[in-house]
Amino acid sequence: MPTQALFETAEHRNILLEDFTSGKMVQANQHLIIHKNEAILLDPGGHKVYSSILEELSTVVPLGWLKHIFFSHQDPDIVAAANGWLMTTDATGYIPTPWIRFITHFGVDDLLVEKIHPIPDAGMKIDLAGCPLLVIPAHFLHSPANFQVYDPVSKILYTGDLGASLGQTYTIVSNFDDHVQYMIGFHRRYIASSKALKLWANMVRQLDIEAIAPQHGAMMMGKAHVERFIDWIANLTCGLDLMESVYKVPS
Ligand SMILES: [Fe+2]
Ligand SMILES: [Fe+2]
Repeated sequence: MPTQALFETAEHRNILLEDFTSGKMVQANQHLIIHKNEAILLDPGGHKVYSSILEELSTVVPLGWLKHIFFSHQDPDIVAAANGWLMTTDATGYIPTPWIRFITHFGVDDLLVEKIHPIPDAGMKIDLAGCPLLVIPAHFLHSPANFQVYDPVSKILYTGDLGASLGQTYTIVSNFDDHVQYMIGFHRRYIASSKALKLWANMVRQLDIEAIAPQHGAMMMGKAHVERFIDWIANLTCGLDLMESVYKVPS
């Protein structure tokens, strides 16, 4: 389970805490952005990975630097250990507004819910020690209330489940065409609407992106791979386009 820097300068680091999952759990990446003496953890994951990630994180930065925890959406591989993270750190949590009432079902205590900031549908900025991280809308990709984080210093776009790949053995994509086979199953089945994909593609083409870092699977580094991915997404057929025929009462 290597921890590696995706970007590093004297005052800014983007760290991948890769894969603390085991057994039948879906592989998941945890990402940490550190600017000066503040850090944000993206999509921390569930109970079984919580203590090892906490331990690993504290070897990278003092735990007191962790000021923000971002929950892109409501899935268990994102929020299941939210109570532990909010209890053991001073961090503020961020989650899409529609999921606030549901996160308590994962055991988040009423007092700790007060530490979670609801993200409005249009997104927001998070100030990381002076670095303005953009929290951009990615609704229906796949969750109906879902956000991604763009870091203007490293120019990495953290896409959460968008760009997820499963089954490959590498962590950095070298051949995009070959990589599609590991992404396509998830995107066809979990993303409901190709309209959402096109809206997303048009939006992110306005950003200067050097890398796409999803929550599952391999990173796409460099502008050439970023452009290939956005073009692939913009033209993908998925979800309801493929599933009309299953709307039949089972016989
Ligand atoms: Fe998800
Ligand atoms: Fe996920």
